[in-house]
Amino acid sequence: MAELRATIVGIGAYVPPKVLTNFDLERMVDTSDEWIRTRTGIRERRIAPDDVVTSTMSVEASRQALAMAGIRPEQIDLILCCTVTPDQPFPATAAIIQRDLGARNAAGLDMGAACAGFLYGLTVADQFIRTGAARYVLLIGVELLSRFVNWQDRSTCVLFGDGAGAAVLTGTRDRGVLASRLYLDGELADLICLPAGGTRIPINAQVMQEGLHYIHMRGNEVFRIAVRYMGRALQDVIAEAGVSAEDIDWMVPHQANYRITTALADYLQFPMDRVYSNIERYGNTSAASIPIALWEMVDRGLLRQGQLVAMTALGAGIAYAATLLRW
Ligand code: ACO
Repeated sequence: MAELRATIVGIGAYVPPKVLTNFDLERMVDTSDEWIRTRTGIRERRIAPDDVVTSTMSVEASRQALAMAGIRPEQIDLILCCTVTPDQPFPATAAIIQRDLGARNAAGLDMGAACAGFLYGLTVADQFIRTGAARYVLLIGVELLSRFVNWQDRSTCVLFGDGAGAAVLTGTRDRGVLASRLYLDGELADLICLPAGGTRIPINAQVMQEGLHYIHMRGNEVFRIAVRYMGRALQDVIAEAGVSAEDIDWMVPHQANYRITTALADYLQFPMDRVYSNIERYGNTSAASIPIALWEMVDRGLLRQGQLVAMTALGAGIAYAATLLRW
C-alpha cells in the first residue's frame, strides 16, 4: 500500500483591508514608486490596524481552511503557528488560536523559521501525519511585520506586509507531500534579524533609541545567496521525488522580491507563465506568503487536484526549504 502523505484538504487566507501604496510611502521616507517597483516588483502591501494581532488574522484564515476541509475545530490534533511576529513572547500564539477557534483537543506550538516558516511547518506536519501521531494538523503561516518595521528605514519598510494563510492537512495515499527538505545556515544568522527583545539585548530606552527593536536586514547580501540556495533546494527535492522539472505544473516561491523569483525561474530554466507571483499586491508577508498564494490560486481556479506544485522559501536564519507537493 502507498505511504500516507500530508495533503492540504483546506486552505484559507486573510489580509487586512488597509492598503499602503508605494505613493503613500513616498510621503513617509525618501523613496519612489519607481524604485520600489523596479527593485522589488511591489506596488502595495496590507497593514493591520492597531486592534488586530497575529492570532486575529490566523483565526480568520483558519476558519476558511476548516470550512473548505469540512472539519470541526475539535477534530484538529495539532496546531503549528509559523511566525516570527507572535502576539507576545509567550504563551505561544497557537494557544490563543486554539482557544479562539475552540480547537480544544489540539496540541500546539509556534515555529520561528521566518519566511521559510510555512514549508518548515509543512514538513513537520508531514512527519506527524506519516507516523499516525496526528490525523488533522492546522498549519498557519502568519506575520504582522508592520509592527516590527522601522518606518523611517527606507531599505526595509517598503518591503513588508501583513497577512495570514492557513491549511488543514490530513493523510492521503494518492497525493500530498512527495519530498521536502529543510536547511539552515546559521553562519549567516546576522543577515536578517531583530536584535532586541530577547535574552541577548533586553529592551530599554537606549536600545529603543538605537532602533534595535526593529528588523535589520543586509538585503543586498541576502539577495546574492537567495537564488542559489533556493535553486539548489528545489533541485534536491525534484531529484528525491524522481520527477523532472517538466512534470511540475506550478512553482510557488516565497514572495520576497520579483527579481529573485525571475532569477530563480531562470536558474531552473522554468517558464515564468507557470510561476505564481502576487508580490505586487502584498509585498513580503514572510511565513504567510506561500499559503496566501496557494489560497489565491485555488480561489482563481488555477490550482487543481492532481497538479504538481514546487515550493521554496528563504529567510532569517538563514532558514530555507523546498517542498514538492501533489495538490
Ligand atoms: N528607495 C530608494 N532607494 C533605496 C531604497 C528605497 N526604498 N532602499 C535602498 N535604497 C538605496 C540604497 O540606499 C542604495 O543606495 P546607494 O547605492 O546610494 O548606497 C541603493 O538603493 C541600492 O541598495 P541595495 O540594497 O544594493 O539595493 P538592491 O537592489 O539590493 O535592493 C532589496 C534591495 C530590495 C532589499 C534587495 O536586496 C532584496 O530584495 N533582498 C532580499 C530580501 C529577502 O529576500 N529577504 C528575505 C526574507 S525577509 C525575512 O526573513 C523576515
